[in-house]
Amino acid sequence: MTESARLYYEERGQGMPVVLLHGFPFDHTIWSAQSDALSESVRVIAPDLRGHGQSPVFGEVYDMAALAADVVAVLDRCGVDRAVWVGHSMGGYITMAALREFPDRVAGIGLVATHPHPDTPEKRIQRNQSAQQVLGGGAGQVVLSMMNVLFAPALDRKSELAQRIYDVMLRTKTEGLAGALRAMAERPDSANTLATTTVPAVVIAGAEDQIVSVEVMQAMADLLTGAECHVIDRAGHMVMVENPAATTAALRAFLNRFSAA
Ligand code: MLT
Repeated sequence: MTESARLYYEERGQGMPVVLLHGFPFDHTIWSAQSDALSESVRVIAPDLRGHGQSPVFGEVYDMAALAADVVAVLDRCGVDRAVWVGHSMGGYITMAALREFPDRVAGIGLVATHPHPDTPEKRIQRNQSAQQVLGGGAGQVVLSMMNVLFAPALDRKSELAQRIYDVMLRTKTEGLAGALRAMAERPDSANTLATTTVPAVVIAGAEDQIVSVEVMQAMADLLTGAECHVIDRAGHMVMVENPAATTAALRAFLNRFSAA
C-alpha cells in the first residue's frame, strides 16, 4: 500500500464523527449545506480527496484502497476511531473500499448517487483515454463533457449553482483527475462487500440522475441488510446541491438511528 496523503479537511461540530466524501472531480464544498446543518448535532469531517480541492497531488498510482487509506489517516489525525462514512459517487466507491480494507473504522455507511459495480471493459478503456487526454492538456474538455449529465435535465447549466460546480471541477489538479480516472477504471466489484456488511446503511438517489439510475441504486439498497433508499425529487447526480434540504433530511434521519441506539 502507498503512503497516505495528508489531505486538507474541514471539521465542524461535536458528537458522532461523520465523514462526508465528495465524488469525482469535486471537493468538500459540495457538502456545504449538509455540513452546516448536520454539524449542529454531529462532528462533520469533510476532506478534499488526493489531488482534488486543496489537497496535494500525491503518488502516481491511485486505487480505491489508497484513497480510503488517505481518509483513515485523516481520522487518525482527528483522533477518531470509527466514523459513519457518507460517499458521493466516487466517494461511495471509496466507502466500499473502506468496508473491505478498514472495517473497524466504519460505523455506518451512506451511499449517495453511487453503485457497487466495476467499470465495463469499454468504460475502462474510455477512462484510461480520458486520463491520457487530461495529462495531454485536455482537462477542460473532460470536465465540460461531464457538465451535460451532472444535473437534472431541467437545471439551467448557466445558473449560479451549475457554474459553481463547474468551477470546482476546473480547479481539480491535472494529476488528481488522471489518478482518480485510473483508480475508478481499476476498481473491483463491491456487490459482495455490500451484501456481507452488517453496518447500518442508507442509500440516497437523485430521481433524475443521468449517471447512476434510480433502479441501480434501489438494487444496491436491496443488497444491504435493512437499508432505506431515499429517492430525492428535483435532483440529478449532484443531489446534495440540487435538493440540499431533502438530502440533509435523509441523512439526518439515518444519523438519528445511531443516537437512538
Ligand atoms: C462521480 O461523480 O464521482 C463520478 O461520476 C463517478 C464515475 O464516473 O463513476
